[in-house]
Amino acid sequence: MDRRVKKIREAADFILEQTGGKKPEVGIILGSGLGKLADAIKAEAVIPYAKIPNFARSTAIGHKGNLIFGTLAGKTVCAMQGRFHYYEGYSMEQVTLPVRVLAALGVKALFVSNAAGGLNQGYSVGDLMIIRDHINMLPNPLIGPNFAEFGERFPDMTAAYDQELIAKAEAIAKKARIKVRKGVYLGNTGPSYETPAEVRYYLAIGADAVGMSTVPEVLVARHSGIPVFGMSVITNISNLDNTSTKLNDGDDVVRAADAAADKMCRIFTKLIETL
Ligand code: HPA
Repeated sequence: MDRRVKKIREAADFILEQTGGKKPEVGIILGSGLGKLADAIKAEAVIPYAKIPNFARSTAIGHKGNLIFGTLAGKTVCAMQGRFHYYEGYSMEQVTLPVRVLAALGVKALFVSNAAGGLNQGYSVGDLMIIRDHINMLPNPLIGPNFAEFGERFPDMTAAYDQELIAKAEAIAKKARIKVRKGVYLGNTGPSYETPAEVRYYLAIGADAVGMSTVPEVLVARHSGIPVFGMSVITNISNLDNTSTKLNDGDDVVRAADAAADKMCRIFTKLIETL
């Protein structure tokens, strides 16, 4: 058996032992400051990453490091309270292993969330953005021998973010009177924030928000044919010039994400209910 597949199976088997053999229908990845949704899950098992074979440890601020299995909106879900980032020094294989594991467990949809900088100068701190597409500036996690058990060599990315889920989320937000943006997320390695020159470049190529995660997970989920829905919380507005006095700061990011988390949780919950 492929070494990588063995690692995935070991982690998936361990999780199934903890859930009494029950499988999740939906996978959820909660970003910086967005762990709150986990509180809404009727948890049947809370599994620290440290216990799961082959999982890395979560070192990023605002990331707890638990896998939560339970029920949300009548669906069985498996939520990652905190994720792994490339900037932490993990390989792309380690960053995306949890998504492979969720795929092996048979999830029918993946919900991803993150804190992001607003490149788009029309955005405000605390805005929610439905991710309609992405630009990848991280190494592609699908590089290497193809996992034929999971998907094809050259997966299509025309609709990486599920069009039907986006339309449903917009309708849910409208009904709940929650303002949502819809834009393009650019995934960078980090850990440094962007220079104003980079901000202007990313705007010119069509990005609305920038962050240091999510894209690798989405690529791996789409490789497995899993529909994806993603949302960003805009935690700061990117600086267009070098004279700005508002500097980017990780603690501000977690605070702003925390304040907006409730609205995002409501949209995720309602959307999961419709599945
Ligand atoms: N840039 C990159 N990642 C981020 C930012 C940002 O401004 N804010 C939150 N995550």
